[in-house]
Amino acid sequence: MPKILYIESSPRKKRSSSIAVADIFLKEYEKKHKSDEIKKIDLWEKQIPTFDGDVIDAKYAIMHGQSHTEAQRKAWRQVEETIAEFKNADKYVISLPMWNFSIPYVLKHYIDVIVQPSYTFSFSPTEGYKGLVTGKPIVLIYSRGGAYGSGTGAEGLDLQRTYMETILKFIGFTNIKSIIIEPTLGKPEEKDLAVEKATKEALSLAASF
Ligand SMILES: Cc1cc2nc3c(=O)[nH]c(=O)nc-3n(C[C@H](O)[C@H](O)[C@H](O)COP(=O)(O)O)c2cc1C
Repeated sequence: MPKILYIESSPRKKRSSSIAVADIFLKEYEKKHKSDEIKKIDLWEKQIPTFDGDVIDAKYAIMHGQSHTEAQRKAWRQVEETIAEFKNADKYVISLPMWNFSIPYVLKHYIDVIVQPSYTFSFSPTEGYKGLVTGKPIVLIYSRGGAYGSGTGAEGLDLQRTYMETILKFIGFTNIKSIIIEPTLGKPEEKDLAVEKATKEALSLAASF
């Protein structure tokens, strides 16, 4: 039974455009793939290990080829569990608002925990960096107050999509689909149009994903 992991990163819940479109995508996906299992991670609820103290020391111990102390081993277990939960999926959906041209800090925190050498990427002097999360599709549902698409003149400020695609490719993703809701903070009719367009894209993608 294929497993879908849905990662939600807006705290706006019922008011959120990225969550609204993700919910439409997932409902349609469920209709079309009845036996699949959907698991949701709300990054505002989830306990993500703080990346300091024994956790950061454990990471540097790995990078220096040293063994862990007992305290580091215990602290690192939480990182391993977070990574295992992430990797234990066949398909992924992430909904995310743009925050300061980039991504909300809870999502960055999550990424800082799951992107780890020997778990989600590897390095060797002969082969360089290799992503280890391979053969799995992902849909990203982006929401932005302004507009950053082609021809807006603001393309260079979009560090939200460029960052997500860079880090996901780094850990092995190649099949990356995007749904963009923009602008959400313009005139109300502009937002309605943006949500309507994204909804159509979500319904169509959910059927083939
Ligand atoms: C902390 C914060 C920073 C934001 N920064 C930007 C920004 O840099 N560019 C932008 O276009 N919108 C920005 N916005 C607006 C959101 O991207 C916009 O309202 C979006 O639709 C929110 O998505 P959501 O409804 O799914 O939470 C920001 C909002 C917040 C709360």
